[in-house]
Amino acid sequence: MGVRRYVSVTALGPPQQSKIRVAAGRRTGSNSARSFISRREEAATSAQPDGVSRAKRRRGVGDLVKGGTPVVGLTAYTAPIANLLDPHVDFLLVGDSVGMVVYGFGSTLPVTVDMMIAHGAAVMRSSSRALVVVDMPFGSYQESREQAFRTAARILAETGCAAVKLEGGAEMADTVRFLTERGIPVMGHVGLMPQSVNAAGGFKVQGRDRQQAERVSADAAAIAGAGAFSLVIEGTIEPVARAITEAVPVPTIGIGASPMCDGQILVIDDVLGLFTQFKPRFVRRHAELAPLIAAAVETYAEDVRARHFPGPEHCFGMK
Ligand code: KIV
Repeated sequence: MGVRRYVSVTALGPPQQSKIRVAAGRRTGSNSARSFISRREEAATSAQPDGVSRAKRRRGVGDLVKGGTPVVGLTAYTAPIANLLDPHVDFLLVGDSVGMVVYGFGSTLPVTVDMMIAHGAAVMRSSSRALVVVDMPFGSYQESREQAFRTAARILAETGCAAVKLEGGAEMADTVRFLTERGIPVMGHVGLMPQSVNAAGGFKVQGRDRQQAERVSADAAAIAGAGAFSLVIEGTIEPVARAITEAVPVPTIGIGASPMCDGQILVIDDVLGLFTQFKPRFVRRHAELAPLIAAAVETYAEDVRARHFPGPEHCFGMK
């Protein structure tokens, strides 16, 4: 909460800042400094000379729009990364890819609800603008609609995120309807579904033969028809992704599914060049951070071993 309070305070001028910091310091509990400002004062202090309001609100599921400027999504699993990505994206996905990217598992299957909640809460604490969607991990929703509801409700309540994502096609439509009719926004995920890696015999591009293409399209229609507010299409050939995007009324978000989707998402470690074991064909690295980190750590180790670090400026002394 501290970070968010600081952000709202810095939007004000110096006199208001000091008044609010004093007030906030006197107050205990979770109420932010914002509760000390009347609505009128807040509107006045956040208005720009050109009349544009500087108030920033967190995006909701209705802010992902179909058509127009493509929707921008990235995965985030930790507080510092969420903080850096938040101003630039429409939504942050706390993906179960956390299992492979952060924990080093060979698949997403070992990821637990507790892990998703810990990472989801960290991302929520460190973002204020982007819609945050948290993945439902394998085994936490497939058993029954009721199990799915309990898991989704726990994720929403314990992270504060606005929506969950689950993988599955027509067989999950009933579950998606059960959740959406009970106030839980759901992002669907069709095409290549990493949680089904064992049944699918690997991470395989989908839609290459007619039967598969028809199945992925039917899956997308079923999940959108069940009330999902958006659909991730993963690892699917362009004509199928295009046909789905044209057919469903909700925004499609592609990952390895061509530019024909309404938006794109990538795994942040791929974009930053941090995950270097392999590079999927659909990834464009926008930075190569792995060698930078290796070089920084090498010079740190050299400095310590040569007693060049810490220097006098890093030491505490007497008063
Ligand atoms: O877990 C994840 O990162 C995802 C994306 C690949 C969409 O589901």
